[in-house]
Amino acid sequence: MRGCEPGEQAVLTTDVTIIGAGAAGLMCAFSAAARGRRVLLLDHANKAGKKILMSGGGRCNFTNMYTEPASFLSGNPHFCKSALARYTQWDFIEMVARHGIPYHEKKLGQLFCDNKASDILNMLLDECAQAGVELRLDTRIEAVEKDAQGYALRTSLGPVRCASLVIATGGLSIPTLGASGFGYQLARQFGHSVLPTRAGLVPFTITEPQLKAICDELSGTSVEDCLVSCNGQSFRENILFTHRGLSGPAILQVSSYWQAGDAIEINLLPHLDLVEWLSEQQRERPNSELKTILGELFTRKMAGLLAEHWFSSKPLKQYAPSELEQIAGKLSAWQLVPSGTEGYRTAEVTLGGVDTREVSSKTMESQKSPGLYFIGEVLDVTGHLGGFNFQWAWASAYAAAQYV
Ligand code: FDA
Repeated sequence: MRGCEPGEQAVLTTDVTIIGAGAAGLMCAFSAAARGRRVLLLDHANKAGKKILMSGGGRCNFTNMYTEPASFLSGNPHFCKSALARYTQWDFIEMVARHGIPYHEKKLGQLFCDNKASDILNMLLDECAQAGVELRLDTRIEAVEKDAQGYALRTSLGPVRCASLVIATGGLSIPTLGASGFGYQLARQFGHSVLPTRAGLVPFTITEPQLKAICDELSGTSVEDCLVSCNGQSFRENILFTHRGLSGPAILQVSSYWQAGDAIEINLLPHLDLVEWLSEQQRERPNSELKTILGELFTRKMAGLLAEHWFSSKPLKQYAPSELEQIAGKLSAWQLVPSGTEGYRTAEVTLGGVDTREVSSKTMESQKSPGLYFIGEVLDVTGHLGGFNFQWAWASAYAAAQYV
């Protein structure tokens, strides 16, 4: 800190100021401090890393063993490659292991803590403390300006000056966890384009009365192995009926590829050749009712509802081959148009954001304003469900930390 005149507020001077003490901000802070940089990490929330604590159902799906660029959406799909290659899932796993944090693979390469998500947050906070990062919570950023010496911030802490300013304020998802549009506003202030944002990894809502009735009745029921497709992308996982519509991993994944008005297609039984299976049942059990045999594939309640709403249930021998084909078609290619999504209130991520064409993929530095960096979810890089979003936060943060 430099000295100040009476009545003048002391200026806090650092090499690096990071706004946002979430996943990316914490990672960047200790990685830069480990290089000997003086780092000030600011957040308006009363706690660092709130999303980390909420993540993965409280167990934090902190990375994915199969991370690759194809698991990310962006207007500029090549952008994420360099950072992901320079700080990989194995690097993060090595740190988790070094801190003695027990973890396991749940499925599909998704790594979760055995105990609690706070293990990951505490690890990041310990690294920050050891590296000498100054973390200040409950801090409002009132204005940011640039001059010949670097960046000047007006904050509720008083004035702050730094050579490098890192924006790690994340996206718009879950405002109650501290999300704000601050990063986008600041990007625009410094001449950046911000690509339109929308909620991603989010449940669909359904208002069409017949479908809504099915969802209501089946609320809480999941179907284990479904193939859900939209706009050329397909995901095979379970789906979940809710009072509002549809959720579950396959639905959340496809929601990131969905635009208002698009239809989605759900194959409720991708592991079965349904025409063949139904014909076989007809031969072997001609007197069994359709809803009875569907009850062997779904819960009895779901089979009853589908039989009631979609097909008139009767003994199998009474169906013509073309009718069996229609039934198979409906179950394996159920087309529906969601009314919308649950929005930022429940979305795991925000699609869109700071246009990566104006940011260096090597350093994360702005090409519009030297010394300004963007990392994590504020950028237009969004991962699939499964630990990919944290891996992007770690990798982009690490990349910037080598240059700030
Ligand atoms: P992040 O949102 O983590 O941090 C941004 C920080 O900036 C916050 O601390 C916020 O308070 C602060 N901030 C915002 N505006 C500010 C302002 N104006 N002034 C000062 N500070 C400000 N991903 C994954 O890979 N595995 C998982 O298991 C999950 N699970 C999950 C569950 C839930 C409920 C959500 C909402 C999200 C996930 N995610 C996830 C996504 C993951 O949490 C997300 O992609 C990362 O946290 C993004 O990291 P960032 O650091 O970019 O933003």
